[in-house]
Amino acid sequence: MEQRLVLADIWQKRAGFELQVAAGFAAISTSMFEFGADPYVLKIVGRAVRDEIRHAEISTELAARYRGDSVIWPARVPVHTPRFEPAQGALRLALYMIAMSCINETVACSVLEAAINQSESPLVKAALQTILADEIDHARAGWAHLASPWVTPSIKAELPEWCRRMLAAKMRELVEDESPLPGEAFPSHGMLARENTRRIVRSTLDDVIFPGFEAAGIDASLARAWAIEALPI
Ligand SMILES: [Fe+2]
Ligand SMILES: [Fe+2]
Repeated sequence: MEQRLVLADIWQKRAGFELQVAAGFAAISTSMFEFGADPYVLKIVGRAVRDEIRHAEISTELAARYRGDSVIWPARVPVHTPRFEPAQGALRLALYMIAMSCINETVACSVLEAAINQSESPLVKAALQTILADEIDHARAGWAHLASPWVTPSIKAELPEWCRRMLAAKMRELVEDESPLPGEAFPSHGMLARENTRRIVRSTLDDVIFPGFEAAGIDASLARAWAIEALPI
């Protein structure tokens, strides 16, 4: 396939992922109405639904530029709300926030930053920059939720094993698959290689996420042990 069509395809898929993230934040905000959250956190999470739809829009626009035709909106996407069984209520909400904000969005910030530095296209840089500005906020909401009284000491006592399990599940593809990431042949378009992505994820875990868990009073030793084995430096 021609280079521009490969890149168009990647951005078109990203648009769909952004809508899935929007659906995730919609589910989290529903859960926050029911089980409680700090207003600061609720406001960011509510806005995040709109932000992610905007990211989808930006992604479809880039895809259209690469294709050289008009924008295609991903009208329907599969939505999987994780159940985190047997967790319920405020524990389940805390797990969902850790997965979406503390892990996904925090890692996304580092990945986006690296992609911005690597990209030589002003248009791609600008798109990633706009997305990054929102993702910083989305990550912050997760850390603020963990620091809030809505995540009680008894909830925190249950989190260490869950954190290890969530990381293993989320990173499985990055860790186990050895094939090149889609687009990694086009570094100047902001596409990162698998090896580079692994390094970025590991350092984000070590420098931001694990210290973040510990600052919130969550023992990160199980998660740290997983990272040492799964993502060796
Ligand atoms: Fe996003
Ligand atoms: Fe986000």
